[in-house]
Amino acid sequence: MRKILDRVSLVILAFTVIVATGCASLSGPNATIRPAPFGTTPDGRQVTVYTLQNDCGMQARILDYGGIIQSIRVPDKLGHAGDVVLGYDDLGDYMTNSLYFGALIGRYGNRIAKGRFELDGATYQLPINDGPNSLHGGTNGFDKLIWSVDRAGITPQGPELQLRCVSPDGDNGYPGRLAVTATYTLLAHKNELRLHFRATTDKDTVINLTAHSYFNLAGRGEIHGEVLTIPAGSLTPVDDTLIPTGDLEAVDGTPFDFRKPTAIGARIREDDQQLKYCHGYDLNWVIDKPPGQYGLMARVHDPTSGRVLEVWSDQPGVQFYSGNFLNGSMTGKGGWVYQFRDALSLEPQHYPDSPNHPNFPSTVLKPGQVYQNTIVYHFGVQ
Ligand code: GLA
Repeated sequence: MRKILDRVSLVILAFTVIVATGCASLSGPNATIRPAPFGTTPDGRQVTVYTLQNDCGMQARILDYGGIIQSIRVPDKLGHAGDVVLGYDDLGDYMTNSLYFGALIGRYGNRIAKGRFELDGATYQLPINDGPNSLHGGTNGFDKLIWSVDRAGITPQGPELQLRCVSPDGDNGYPGRLAVTATYTLLAHKNELRLHFRATTDKDTVINLTAHSYFNLAGRGEIHGEVLTIPAGSLTPVDDTLIPTGDLEAVDGTPFDFRKPTAIGARIREDDQQLKYCHGYDLNWVIDKPPGQYGLMARVHDPTSGRVLEVWSDQPGVQFYSGNFLNGSMTGKGGWVYQFRDALSLEPQHYPDSPNHPNFPSTVLKPGQVYQNTIVYHFGVQ
């Protein structure tokens, strides 16, 4: 019964936000998409930034390098637009020192233990780039590619950018030639950015694409005061290298129960082995919904600005990461020095290391199948 009531209150919350961003006073249609040069790689390739603008005061800037969401500007409760994601002003910083700021992640989001997995009797070895493990697709993942631009234009829904890449057989150790499109749509009449992935392969492979924006709804400072809701009754606990043990653990009575809105900082310093392994929050929550069903993954409310972010997806899990590797060594847009816990990530995904855990939902993609994955960032005020 309590579960049902919790669900009902989440739906009511979601409805409130949607109403709050109805964008009734449309001045439009002014929705636009504009390309501009963003820089040149050391080997002479041009990188372009696409600015997508809607009729409700939301703007997103997206690079063809790494499919990076370089900025998202949305109004606060007073109607003042501000940038709510971390990132850089310069391409060079993204290339050398990025921690995946805003990037597309592939072929496999999060960690694969010792960079190794078996598929159809063969063992595959991936690059090791995170302690003993492989993280976010390896050393040259999708975050470091210049994607081709299929389309940049206005659709009936709003401005849209479609990026494409072909990852050759054996790329970063993964089998199969993988063809991927990533389509970003900024809704014209709603403050919502939608990202849709589609992929096919010519050999059996594993795939787990996601997006890695670092959010700070206040536009500055530590995120401990931001209030988080995750509709998940369990998570996948990890070992000291952040690889899932294979168990699903109930969140009841732990600092990981975010079924009721809770400030991120409220329990982050508790004496808990998982919090210690992760130096804060950095785990995969198992969302309470049938696999493949589209639904709310997480909701964040910043009481100071009033901004609300809802992340929706059809993925089975969400990695909530509380910016524990930010350490003051990076200076981002507008000179903001990114300190410990200055942002949070919410990455809809399949569970980390799924290829090594037959009890987790499968991440195998076969020839003839079409991989699809939708991630939506919906903004409002409260
Ligand atoms: C994910 C991981 C974190 C960290 C970030 C990138 O969120 O779970 O441990 O590696 O990516 O820095």
